[in-house]
Amino acid sequence: MGIRDKKNHETSYLKERWQNRSEIVPPNIEDFTSQFNAREQILKEIEQYASENKVPILLPSAARFLQIICRSKKPENILEIGTGIGYSTLSMLFALKGRCHITSVDFNIERIKIAGKFIKKAGFSVNLIFDDSFNIIRKLLAEGATFDMIFVDSVKSEYVFMNYKIQALLKHSGIAIFDNVLFRGYVCNEHPPRYKRTIKLLKKFLSHVKTYPGIITSIIPIGDGMLIIENQD
Ligand SMILES: C[S@@+](CC[C@H](N)C(=O)[O-])C[C@H]1O[C@@H](n2cnc3c(N)ncnc32)[C@H](O)[C@@H]1O
Repeated sequence: MGIRDKKNHETSYLKERWQNRSEIVPPNIEDFTSQFNAREQILKEIEQYASENKVPILLPSAARFLQIICRSKKPENILEIGTGIGYSTLSMLFALKGRCHITSVDFNIERIKIAGKFIKKAGFSVNLIFDDSFNIIRKLLAEGATFDMIFVDSVKSEYVFMNYKIQALLKHSGIAIFDNVLFRGYVCNEHPPRYKRTIKLLKKFLSHVKTYPGIITSIIPIGDGMLIIENQD
């Protein structure tokens, strides 16, 4: 699949994901937990932009959780796969008060541009890369790059194909977080036939992760399900 085909595939898949609501947490609890923490005005602005323009972003409650991880791990060097419009990127930057270097990749140029504007407006800078993440991952591995933290929020059916590479890019005690691993709860329940492939590949990804040596893993049922992998090698 070329970059344009992949983008079209991804865009059509994401069309229905714009609601930005959890489907694994009951709505009243999601609303309560999403609104519980004060957050920077610009994050609220991005939430509003996402909802008005039907753009998928990390669920606010999941973003707060990502911030807690950032504050406790204090990663200096972060790789993000799936910049979107920069909501998760800025959430990490605010949590770390900008004391980190983020490389963030997306193959959607319009979104990269919007993310760049929001990041600039917030007064931060990020190494934003417009490319297919598989190209960038390959390049980073060839360069011997490693990261304290990697946040992955791209096409869920592709996680299984990048998993080992992501782990190879982690420093010792580095942490990788994959979003949407419970995929609306379908990973643990019956699912509509059209998601058969995605669910099959997500399950395959999770079963690989479960048996992979040298890592500690947890699935946190927040947002759409977040998988945390800590590298012990
Ligand atoms: C759910 S959105 C990311 C939301 C973002 N993390 C946020 O909170 O604002 C997923 C993004 O991943 C990008 N993406 C999906 N597959 C990709 C790939 N193989 N390479 C680069 N970007 C990809 C899409 O273009 C999309 O913008």
